[in-house]
Amino acid sequence: MLKILFFGDIAGEPGRKAVRQALPAILENEQPDLVLANVENLAHGKGVTVKTLEELIRAGIQGFTGGNHIFSKREFSNEALEKYAAVLVRPVNISSIYSGKAQAVFETTKGKVLLGNFLGQVFMENQFPEIVGPPFASVSEWLDQHKTEQIKAVLIDFHAEATSEKVAFGYFLDGKVSAVVGTHTHIPTADAKILPGGTAYITDVGMCGAAGSVLGVKKELSLERFLTGKKVAFDIPDDAELAELSYVIINIDENSGKSQDIKPIHQITKIK
Ligand SMILES: [Fe+2]
Repeated sequence: MLKILFFGDIAGEPGRKAVRQALPAILENEQPDLVLANVENLAHGKGVTVKTLEELIRAGIQGFTGGNHIFSKREFSNEALEKYAAVLVRPVNISSIYSGKAQAVFETTKGKVLLGNFLGQVFMENQFPEIVGPPFASVSEWLDQHKTEQIKAVLIDFHAEATSEKVAFGYFLDGKVSAVVGTHTHIPTADAKILPGGTAYITDVGMCGAAGSVLGVKKELSLERFLTGKKVAFDIPDDAELAELSYVIINIDENSGKSQDIKPIHQITKIK
C-alpha cells in the first residue's frame, strides 16, 4: 500500500511552526511513502519564499502544490520557481507565460507518483490576476500528457472556492486518478470518502495556521474589512499560541492506482 500524507494550506509562521512541531511524531507513527503540502500561503499568508520552502524541506516535506497566490512574493522569482520545479507544482490551467512546472513525479519505494495542481473558476475571478482556464478540459489534457504507464498513483490538489465545482471535479476524475484533495478555503470539510471508481476525495483539507483567526489572518482585520467595506490589508497573527493542523492520510493500492481509504485529521495544537 502506498501511503500519502497531504497537509492543507500552510498559512504563515503559525502554520509552519505547527507542521514542524508535529511532523516528527506523525512520520514515526504513520511511516508515509510521500509527504505533500499546499504552500501558496506559506510566507506570511501570501506566496512562498526560498527560506520558508527550505524550512519545510528540512522538516521532511517532499512535494508542494500552489494556488492563486503562488506568484505573490516577488522574491520567489521565476528563477526560484524553476529551481524548485522538481518538487513544487504551480497550477496547470493558467497562462503558459508563468514559470515553474505544472507537474512533478516523485519516486517512492512503491512506485512513481504524479502530482498536479488546478485552480477552480467559480468565484475565483478576482483572486488571480489573469484568466483561469477551464479545469475540466485542462485536467483531461494534462492526464493524457503525463499519466504514463510507469505512474502508480496520481494526486491532484484542486485549489478552488465553490464546493459544487470541487465535488463535480472529484466525480469527473473518479477512476482516473488516485486522489483529489481540495484546498483554498482553509476550512476542513466533513466529506472525505472513496468515490465509486476508487478515487479518494475531500472538498477541502483545511489549513495549518493560527487558531482563533479568520482563515489564518488576524480576526480584527477581517472584521474591519466586513464592518467598513474598506480594503484592509491582512496580516498573520504573530502571537498565536494555538494552531489548527489539518491533513489527510491516503492509502493507495499501487497495483491498481485506486485508493483504499482516506483519513482526515483536524487538530488544535499548542505552538511552542
Ligand atoms: Fe488560495
